[in-house]
Amino acid sequence: MWRWIMLVGLFVCLSEPVCGWTQDDGAITKIAFGSCANQNRPCPIWEVIADYKPQVTVLLGDNVYADSIGGRSEPATPERIAEAYRALLSVPGFARLKESTQLMATWDDHDYGDNDVGREWIHKDASALRLHDFLGTPTDSPRRLQKGVYQAQVFGPPGRRIQVILLDTRYFRSSLPQAAEPLPGWRSRPYVKQSGPEAEMLGAEQWTWLEEQLRVPAELRILGSSIQVLSDEHPFEMWGNFPDERQRLFDLIRACEASGVVILSGDRHLGEISYDMEAVGYPLFDVTASGLNQGHQGWRSPEPNSKRYAAMPFGNHFGTIEIDWKEPGPMVLLQLRKEDGQVSVEAQVPLNLLVAEPAPLPVPMGVLGTKEVLEKNVGDEVVVQFYVRGGRDLARPKRVLLNSDRSIESPRNLTVVLQETAFSGERIDANLQTFLHKTVRAKGKVTLYNGRKQVEVLQPKDIELIAR
Ligand SMILES: [Fe+2]
Repeated sequence: MWRWIMLVGLFVCLSEPVCGWTQDDGAITKIAFGSCANQNRPCPIWEVIADYKPQVTVLLGDNVYADSIGGRSEPATPERIAEAYRALLSVPGFARLKESTQLMATWDDHDYGDNDVGREWIHKDASALRLHDFLGTPTDSPRRLQKGVYQAQVFGPPGRRIQVILLDTRYFRSSLPQAAEPLPGWRSRPYVKQSGPEAEMLGAEQWTWLEEQLRVPAELRILGSSIQVLSDEHPFEMWGNFPDERQRLFDLIRACEASGVVILSGDRHLGEISYDMEAVGYPLFDVTASGLNQGHQGWRSPEPNSKRYAAMPFGNHFGTIEIDWKEPGPMVLLQLRKEDGQVSVEAQVPLNLLVAEPAPLPVPMGVLGTKEVLEKNVGDEVVVQFYVRGGRDLARPKRVLLNSDRSIESPRNLTVVLQETAFSGERIDANLQTFLHKTVRAKGKVTLYNGRKQVEVLQPKDIELIAR
């Protein structure tokens, strides 16, 4: 009888994806995330997130409000932090979610223990232990002895790996004084921007650890920060208050050639997706999901944010990432969902757009860069070497366009056209994917198309992939 029950159970597990909540190969396809959940108020959205059945759930901070007593703010004690986590664990919807997902969490100020506080917080080590107790970190785990609660984990098989990196933006963060007066149009006094070696967001140990993590192989990297990284025109806490530290983060992502980075953030009691095309050499998204039950009730005029892609200026919400691992181009959906679970705003991001650019390869004598080719005359024969940032496959007749710039409209862009005759022998099946995000050397004649110079390649031997 027991053997039968076990066999039936095994069959259900193998055939029903919900049981194992992963694809057959263990790839993650659904991640939920959010922040700002006051345990003293109802939080029905936990039930909705549990119903969504995320394989991984990321809490980005202010996961409880330990510094809130009867609606008034007061620095927490370790006992009150523990009590707040116990209250969250006793919420049936959250308990159901925790049972059925892989839960990861960092903290922000209200669960750390005091509003907008940094490394000066007296209970920071005690608070870290309360967070580990809440998460169920094993008692012998070295993470319980670590200074700060940063952590990382890789999920999924090679080729479909998702790395979740959670930063600690509190434990090491240097002090952040407020200005005497509000900015025009704001009620809150802004923080005074901090620069120089004394101004720290992550601290030396965490920076070293982050560099190691960014070199770990992964196809998609979720970088969780309790506070916003890109949006920086508001007077509240953000990486923009530490401009050198933020630039260091961008420079580190570039230096590690870390592809696939998507930032998640919280803290702001609003939902929005921001993006920056220049920061790391590929589109960098910062998805802010901040209001599990602390979202703005009613519509709120979106604040200035020149990096905004889309806003959700109303209501409680949570974020989701859905990954379709289809070949050859996986698609990543970055979503903000309402309290009923419906998608409110979404960015569809092809994963092969988020590719780090390698350091340029040396160009041999007699070979030109794209800038020099654009200065040549129509009809000149050239050999050009460049990194392929974009392009297009065309049919009837088959041609492939290789662009040196992500935007074909850019005045810096040079297009190399591989004509139909360039596809024979080994190159017969070549297409854009063969050359995209690689360095190529092309030989051909400069021609004009729609008033723009291009280089036409006619033979397979005249287009070469250059290895590092
Ligand atoms: Fe916060």
